[in-house]
Amino acid sequence: MAAGGVLDQLRVPVVQAPMAGGPSTPALAAAVSEAGGLGFVAAGYRTAAAVAAEIAAVRAATSRPFGVNVFVPSPDGADRGLLAGYVERVRREAAGYGAPTGEAAWSDDAWEEKLAVLVAERPAVASFAFGCPPPEVIERLGEAGVEVWVTVTEPQEAERAAAAGAGGLVVQGVEAGAHRGTFSDADGVGEVGLLTLLRLVTRVTALPLIASGGLCDGAGVAAVLVAGARAAQLGTAFLDTVEAGTPAAHRSALRGGRRTMLTRAFSGRRARGIVNGFLARNGAFAPSAYPHVNALTAPLRAAARERNDPEMLNLWAGQAYTAIDHDVPAATVVERLAREIDAALARREPLSAPPGSA
Ligand SMILES: Cc1cc2nc3c(=O)[nH]c(=O)nc-3n(C[C@H](O)[C@H](O)[C@H](O)COP(=O)(O)O)c2cc1C
Repeated sequence: MAAGGVLDQLRVPVVQAPMAGGPSTPALAAAVSEAGGLGFVAAGYRTAAAVAAEIAAVRAATSRPFGVNVFVPSPDGADRGLLAGYVERVRREAAGYGAPTGEAAWSDDAWEEKLAVLVAERPAVASFAFGCPPPEVIERLGEAGVEVWVTVTEPQEAERAAAAGAGGLVVQGVEAGAHRGTFSDADGVGEVGLLTLLRLVTRVTALPLIASGGLCDGAGVAAVLVAGARAAQLGTAFLDTVEAGTPAAHRSALRGGRRTMLTRAFSGRRARGIVNGFLARNGAFAPSAYPHVNALTAPLRAAARERNDPEMLNLWAGQAYTAIDHDVPAATVVERLAREIDAALARREPLSAPPGSA
């Protein structure tokens, strides 16, 4: 399919962000696609077989296009000394909480197996985060009829993704909820505000851009459309919809007003979440060690979910989380965004004409 082909099929220029770790469900993806946007399956942290099953579940619920998102494996560059210190720290905290920890091991999150699922299942779009797939992978997917999008957080990443053959770029501003999609987790990389980033990326590529980060209403989506995006990708706005798999403790934190910040405390990779006890105690000590730290804290986070305890859980959220809808169907969010986008674009009036010249 030609670049931009899937975006051309959307009635509403809204993409539901893939949200690995629970919030993404087949029901959410299908509901957004049915409402005229583009739903996404999140393949991260899942087995390849589970991803194939989710794709089948979306297809059973809608014939509309949808996407699948996969994490590009991060190189195993963790500093062993720093990691060992953090493992000790988290183990002590978990012991006090009466919960287990996992082994702080590297994994490629079943990369090859998931690529095979994409080629076999042929979703309309495959999007990637944490890096750019090699050109031959992009080519293989293209031959299978799958449009490839790459998440970028700096103009340099956009240039690399364009050179590798990407068909679209998810331009992720620092306002975004959850992990930075940066190609590298070095401090300061990819910490640019969405509007600035979007304007800089339009200078280096003519690829279709999907703007993402901190968007909570149609006026914000209209702003990024005016600024050069073809669509907007929203995650946090769908976190408290009825179809989402977001844990109850996370949903209740979304109704509070605490600030968000970037932290490596839960996963070893910078991610934006609502500040809670675990983040505040451990954030300053967490090394850049993904996915090791993610595997380390996974059982602890599972225990917190079961106890309905928001203080030990990764409460991923974008900077605009206090403005989201609560406990509504995802279609209601898409419909509201569509109305607001229309209203925001319609109220633009020419500024160039001198007063009284109309
Ligand atoms: C809970 C949560 C999980 C996320 N998981 C993923 C993921 O698996 N893959 C990905 O590419 N982006 C993921 N993101 C980031 C989104 O793609 C998107 O950039 C972000 O949600 C945009 O900011 P917003 O949350 O303010 O709308 C996630 C976001 C949230 C809130």
